[in-house]
Amino acid sequence: MALVVNVAFLQLQILAGLLIINIFSFSPTSLVASQPALTLDYYSKTCPTVFEVVRKEMECAVLSDPRNAAKIVRLHFHDCFVQGCDGSVLLDDTITLQGEKTATPNVDSLKGFEIIDSIKNKVESDCPGVVSCADILAIAARDSTVLVGGPDWEMYLGRKDSKTASYELANSNLPVPSEGILPIITKFLYQGLSVTDMVALSGSHTIGVARCQNYRARIYGDYAVTADQSTASESYLNDLRASCPAAGGDDDTVAPMDNVTPNLFDNSYYQILLRGEGLLNSDQEMYSSFLGVQTKQLVLQYAHDPLAFFHQFAQSMVAMGNITNAVDGGEVRRSCRFVNT
Ligand code: HEM
Ligand SMILES: *[C@@H]1O[C@H](CO)[C@@H](O)[C@H](O)[C@H]1NC(C)=O
Repeated sequence: MALVVNVAFLQLQILAGLLIINIFSFSPTSLVASQPALTLDYYSKTCPTVFEVVRKEMECAVLSDPRNAAKIVRLHFHDCFVQGCDGSVLLDDTITLQGEKTATPNVDSLKGFEIIDSIKNKVESDCPGVVSCADILAIAARDSTVLVGGPDWEMYLGRKDSKTASYELANSNLPVPSEGILPIITKFLYQGLSVTDMVALSGSHTIGVARCQNYRARIYGDYAVTADQSTASESYLNDLRASCPAAGGDDDTVAPMDNVTPNLFDNSYYQILLRGEGLLNSDQEMYSSFLGVQTKQLVLQYAHDPLAFFHQFAQSMVAMGNITNAVDGGEVRRSCRFVNT
């Protein structure tokens, strides 16, 4: 079994009082020989209808609730960062298998599993036993993005579904909003992704919501420091505080991360960061942390140039979707929730 070598050097230079951080990442994930490369025509003979079926199901789901697009994009991200994009996140807990659904970043938070089940059912009736759940999730995340106004990209396919999951890796590999920018950058580099990928992919916070427990520290902490003193900004902060009290409130009350256009995939998330009004601490740090010299430049660029953001987002989603599972032989699951027996 090939070893994945993954070394990240963080070089800190202090120059004339300026902290400049150069990050070099060597991530030869291509060393992994056990999985053949993904291809664009993987199902062209074995399941030519797969794209239509996924698109139609996602259209219904997004029409009934635009947040469904956000749920699926996040599900794909949380799949890819744990053992690669192998559908491991979809597995239910059983007596013999501990899944990832109860890991800290996922529990009470990841949603959209029944959407994937329903797509899988339709795909299975067209082409039984052919299309992996990991590929279905990757296509559904692309379609979700497009359906709420985001960029399109070509689908590299041929992922296999894992026969295992990792609760431990779900806890250690996935970024959480209370983390500082350097640990979060390190988690992206560890996956073979770049700082640019991190800033662009975080742009999917232009859709979807976060729960009070994930932004409480921020709205009672340095929000007032990063945000300007405008009345609009202050009344937004007051609204957030009213629905997410410092103590005693409901941890699961949600607020959109992009309060300007919550259901539209656009670049307003970055403009919100320029105003210092990011909902998650981790989002705002990309612009406001003195450690985030490179991330700040990228946030500025994407705030001013929506096409540059769309172009990079599409490319980074392909890169994230390319993270493969190096250890698990894989299969095409019949049900996305259980390994085949
Ligand atoms: C950079 C580090 C990241 C951190 C710390 C982070 C953290 C979070 C948190 C805390 C939430 C709210 C969850 C909740 O309160 O239940 C969230 C939601 C979301 N995240 Fe991220 N995230 C990151 C990167 C990403 C990436 C790379 C993607 C996709 C490519 C993504 C897509 C989403 C989406 C779409 C939602 C909304 C989900 C929904 O409405 O159900 N995030 N993220
Ligand atoms: C993703 O993988 C495909 C197939 O191996 C490759 O052709 C493509 O260049 C990769 N793209 C990125 C952005 O990693």
